[in-house]
Amino acid sequence: LERTLLAEIAEAGDEAAIEAVRVAALGKKGSISDLLKTLGTMTPEERQTRGAAINAMKTLVTEAITARKADLKDAAITARLARETVDVSLPVRSSPAERGRIHPISQIVDEITAIFADMGFAMAEGPDVETDYYNFTALNFPEGHPAREMHDTFFFQPDENGDRKVLRTHTSPVQIRTMEAQKPPIRIIIPGKTYRQDSDATHSPMFHQVEGLVVDTKANVANLRWVLEEFCKTFFEVDKVTMRFRPSFFPFTEPSFEVDIQCDRSSGPIVKFGEGTDWMEILGCGMVHPNVLRSGGLDPDVYQGFAFGMGLDRIAMLKYGMPDLRNFFDADVRWMTHYGFRP
Ligand code: PHE
Repeated sequence: LERTLLAEIAEAGDEAAIEAVRVAALGKKGSISDLLKTLGTMTPEERQTRGAAINAMKTLVTEAITARKADLKDAAITARLARETVDVSLPVRSSPAERGRIHPISQIVDEITAIFADMGFAMAEGPDVETDYYNFTALNFPEGHPAREMHDTFFFQPDENGDRKVLRTHTSPVQIRTMEAQKPPIRIIIPGKTYRQDSDATHSPMFHQVEGLVVDTKANVANLRWVLEEFCKTFFEVDKVTMRFRPSFFPFTEPSFEVDIQCDRSSGPIVKFGEGTDWMEILGCGMVHPNVLRSGGLDPDVYQGFAFGMGLDRIAMLKYGMPDLRNFFDADVRWMTHYGFRP
């Protein structure tokens, strides 16, 4: 019997065949099981010799089956590997609409940094979790000044020393970090996430800004205006923008301005907002306040600078004619396709 079984095991060509051999030998009514049942009818002496032999055979056959099963499994995998080759040169099967895309915000950051790079601006970044010092104090927000509250700040719990971190409310703290890290001339653009407790169709608690900072021995409002006009023409793809500076207030700039633009829709196909004569507010800016230069370790009698900060989501909405800011954070590919973002 043992020899027959071992031959059957060796001949079993697949996992189903070996399983059949196992059932026929070791199953409830299997040949070895039948032999084991006869143990009860044997004399003690018989049991010692015959019994031991039957059990040894059972062990031998069980091990042979296990080994054969493992071999068959290996062989099956090897055969599958040989059969299922992957041709990486074949075109993908999904339609373009199903493919992943760069998020519109990332695309617009790339677009904006490229425009400023052409004007000689480098890119800088800073942390989202910021100290109260960089977000406010170094930017000339006096202690307890209402402007701190105006920013609808997300505050962290204060630490042992009573210092509380914040989610930065603007990208302006990176102005200070940059001045600390490098000597003028400074020409940087700072894209990044910013946070305020605010949420509706045009405000999201997490939003994006792009900050610009220029510090040199000579820098003036006319330079600022030229830079912004060049940027708007390129970004909105129009030949001419009409720009107006309105007086405003920021603790870190003096004088400060709010900038509106008017885009003649006939001069470019891209701008989707307003009527030709509507003024659209696009950013805040001004000449860097002497106290801010001092915070950055620069002498205001030697250096001058200008800075601007714009809501990136906002200008993207203007450019692409999107009514609801929250769509940016819905992760809906159909929506991106609708607004014509490139794959
Ligand atoms: N940080 C300002 C804001 O968030 C924008 C700004 C930046 C204004 C730089 C002037 C200069 O509203």
